[in-house]
Amino acid sequence: MKLARLTALLFSISTVTQESERVTKRSISIDSVRELHAHLIRAHLYKDPSSISQVIRSYALSPPFLDKARLVFAQIERPTLLVWNHMINGLSRSDQPSEAIHMYTCMYHQGLSGNNLTFIFVLKACARVSDFVTGQKVHLHALKLGFGSYLFVSNALIHMYASCGDLGLAQKVFDRMEERDLVSWNSLICGYSYRSSFNEVLRLFEAMRAANVRADSVTMVKVILACAHLGEFEIADSVVKFIEDNHVGIDVYL
Ligand SMILES: *[C@@H]1O[C@H](CO)[C@@H](O)[C@H](O)[C@H]1NC(C)=O
Repeated sequence: MKLARLTALLFSISTVTQESERVTKRSISIDSVRELHAHLIRAHLYKDPSSISQVIRSYALSPPFLDKARLVFAQIERPTLLVWNHMINGLSRSDQPSEAIHMYTCMYHQGLSGNNLTFIFVLKACARVSDFVTGQKVHLHALKLGFGSYLFVSNALIHMYASCGDLGLAQKVFDRMEERDLVSWNSLICGYSYRSSFNEVLRLFEAMRAANVRADSVTMVKVILACAHLGEFEIADSVVKFIEDNHVGIDVYL
């Protein structure tokens, strides 16, 4: 049994993950956005959705400027889907994800249909606040519009249902997918892990290997945790060996 090695490895995996998250975060030059915004105001184009769209996107994705994005958004007479999406996206990442849900609901009541991106963003917000009721409504809207078979929409649905604690529905969405990627597997594995369904984590990991999907550090952390909980040290050892042999986590995110 190599518990010490396991712990050291878990620690190094999470450090690598955090490190890469930091590196991939792009810094938006907010100064140039403000300059563009000022220019659009001078040119009387600040109510024009197509001109202002990029400004809204940048403000909405930059947390200190999110309120500014809302002000600019409020001045637009007929926001396009693109503009709505920027707002819903920004709000879904912010510390007020329920506002993204509110924004989506407003859009829906105005008779505007979302696209795949809208559904991905609003489902993320539903996941963050565990809003199962809206999540299910959004699922229905997506199905009606034909986005149910989209890979990233399905992934967002799995994540939403798992975050709301309904692993049954998460599994159902997963089972019906024609195509799955690493995120599909990880979303379900993370859901089961969070609910302490460790046997399910190992079952999925086996199925994942059988399907020839390459696991990453997210998968591995959950699998090792499951092994530790279930006392499956033989599996844990083989996983550790797999990680060491394949340098999992180091090449995936950087
Ligand atoms: C959204 O749909 C468009 C076309 O329908 C596609 O090109 C794009 O890759 C999709 N994006 C995501 C994130 O699903």
